[in-house]
Amino acid sequence: MSITGVIGFVGAGNMAGALVRGMLGNQVAAPAQIWATNRSSDERLGGLRDRYGITVTRSKSDLAAASSILVLAVKPKDMAGVLRELAPLVRADHLVISVAAGIPLRSIESALSGVPVIRAMPNTSAAVQESATALAAGMRADAVHLAAAETIFRAVGDVMAVDEDLLDVVTGLSGSGPAYVYRLIEAMIHAGTDLGLDALLARRLAVQTLIGAARMLETSSEDPGALRERVTSPGGTTMAALRALEDGGFAMAIREAIGRAADRAREMADEFAGGEPAKRLAAER
Ligand SMILES: NC(=O)c1ccc[n+]([C@@H]2O[C@H](COP(=O)([O-])OP(=O)(O)OC[C@H]3O[C@@H](n4cnc5c(N)ncnc54)[C@H](OP(=O)(O)O)[C@@H]3O)[C@@H](O)[C@H]2O)c1
Repeated sequence: MSITGVIGFVGAGNMAGALVRGMLGNQVAAPAQIWATNRSSDERLGGLRDRYGITVTRSKSDLAAASSILVLAVKPKDMAGVLRELAPLVRADHLVISVAAGIPLRSIESALSGVPVIRAMPNTSAAVQESATALAAGMRADAVHLAAAETIFRAVGDVMAVDEDLLDVVTGLSGSGPAYVYRLIEAMIHAGTDLGLDALLARRLAVQTLIGAARMLETSSEDPGALRERVTSPGGTTMAALRALEDGGFAMAIREAIGRAADRAREMADEFAGGEPAKRLAAER
């Protein structure tokens, strides 16, 4: 499936770069259908133009006029300023997609009145087209808008639609999730080297173990608990290892980590959307 019209990226950083690469690589859009702008870095903007042949501009007004879909790919702290700049430029026939963690649909919808909005929570594996992305549709976004957003994020991985009130938990699980997996692999490598393996060998073994287990999960209809039980012989090595993990509070620590990340996402919504920037935005409207 491909996109019709122009997609304008406001913010030309890591996430925008991953989406542009994924969309072009999967023929979801042609270079002529992609525009991008940022705040000040000529180097990053020029880099995207040179690498992908897309159109870059410093004018949000030109970008909004050319685009049918606007993807807001700026940090949460910069959203209030961007929404303020875009408010006079958006049209009711735009679709606005925000990837900013923690900024609620209601804040974007009230800043850009009359415009359909979708929130997306991808993760950093978008850079290798393996993101897990959750989408939440705002009150004006219909099935056609959702399908367009799904097409864009499908170019960088798997996509699921959820209600917005679940996005903070999604942020805790899959948004921040790659870091937990990196931490696990880091710990496995340290343990391997502590116990005598060469660091590169330990890394290769750990990474391939992760890829293999992920592929088993992806291709099997069994749940992870059943797969775990199948590789855990009574009295064997895996059972000894799993006991040590549970004695160390493994499952509890993961539960706590995801809960805390979700709490932090809620706090960020208050800081950046209900707090000072949002109040300033409301006062200026
Ligand atoms: N990276 C990830 O894996 C990931 C995962 C999930 C969600 N996200 C979300 O994606 C968003 C972007 O993250 P990122 O990693 O791509 O950040 P990034 O690499 O720092 O890029 C941010 C971009 O926003 C631009 N910007 C800031 N203020 C602007 C303004 N007023 N007008 C126009 N452009 C402006 C910056 O321009 P300059 O460079 O010129 O300052 C830069 O191009 C964040 O909200 C983050 O929560 C990212």
